Amino acid sequence: MKHFNIALIPGDGIGPEVVAEGIKVLKAIEEADKTISFTFKEFPWGCEYYLKNGKMMDDDALDILKDYDAIYLGAVGYPGVPDHISLRDLLIKIRKGFDQYVNLRPVELLHPDLTPLKNKTEKDIDMLVIRENSEGEYSGAGDWLFKDKPEEVVLQTGVFSRKGTERIIRYAYEEARKSNRTLTSISKGNALNYSMVFWDQVFEEVGKEYPDVKTYSYLVDAASLYFVSQPERFEVVVTSNLFGDIVTDIGAAITGGMGLATGANINPERKYPSMFEPVHGSAPDIAGKGIANPIAAIWSVSQMLDFFGLEEWAEAVLNTIKQILKENTYLTPDLGGSVSTDELGSHFVELLIKNR
Ligand code: NAI
Ligand code: MG
Repeated sequence: MKHFNIALIPGDGIGPEVVAEGIKVLKAIEEADKTISFTFKEFPWGCEYYLKNGKMMDDDALDILKDYDAIYLGAVGYPGVPDHISLRDLLIKIRKGFDQYVNLRPVELLHPDLTPLKNKTEKDIDMLVIRENSEGEYSGAGDWLFKDKPEEVVLQTGVFSRKGTERIIRYAYEEARKSNRTLTSISKGNALNYSMVFWDQVFEEVGKEYPDVKTYSYLVDAASLYFVSQPERFEVVVTSNLFGDIVTDIGAAITGGMGLATGANINPERKYPSMFEPVHGSAPDIAGKGIANPIAAIWSVSQMLDFFGLEEWAEAVLNTIKQILKENTYLTPDLGGSVSTDELGSHFVELLIKNR
């Protein structure tokens, strides 16, 4: 019997709506497969909690979360609480505190109709972006001098440690080797004359240990262009925190939008729990209407199952997503359909179990 303890942080806006559908999927798997069981514990943290308690989560939140096998998060952030507070005091605290230094973002076209790119199909858009998730441009280092004076100066410092840079690049080489794919590094050594020259150097150094992996190195502006014009160039991609944030949004745009993009925050050493979440935010414009697309959150469940070593179920979930997209009858309004979040989730579970 394999048992997994999952901490739930549904969060704000559509977060709870889409997480509910992910849980439905996990419960259905538990019921169908007697060798697997899950327990769930829900935490009420997020913006509502902040407005009542003056903090996004409990002070000992990391202590409470550290013994779980995984964290399943919806979205945090809502009008009324500044975004830098909701992001930094919850998401970034967990990512940093649990050393989730790998952000795994599949950019994979699941159905040809979903891309706005002409003449591109599933075989052209099928990559895994590995984004550095613990330091770099988002380290929070800097200063704000002479605030509100004419001589005001702000400094936002990128932090690239040897340890931090090597480990993410090594992780990417391992992934490329394991899956027999090419590896592309995205950087900007011509303009960022310290951080990105160092990044490129480390990419080359670590690469000496992986002579079997074919590599490419692009500047981030050129890479952005290729994401749109020639996405087939990319298989496994490794990049910094900021560049990864941006290129994966381009990735979402070429594969069907926010309702479909997922991302896992991984601590590869498994010393701490990893966190699985859809890429999208709390979508205040559609929250409470029951029309949010739960597919991104369900894809996160697939990533979680994969991380748990339940690869067959992970693949079954992804295949069922593809089937729903192909059927084209059970889709939420963002994809041109008219079913609710809950209806899509229930139909999903039916198909998943039937396919088994
Ligand atoms: P957003 O992702 O919430 O929404 C952007 C657009 O995409 C909206 O029009 C929304 O309706 C649509 N959308 C997003 N997810 C969807 C889904 N599952 N189904 C259908 N449509 C969907 O980004 P936005 O509006 O910039 O941010 C809203 C709040 O969410 C902010 O407070 C922001 O800080 C927070 N946020 C949180 C994130 C997280 O928890 N990881 C990530 C991004 C934003
Ligand atoms: Mg983002």
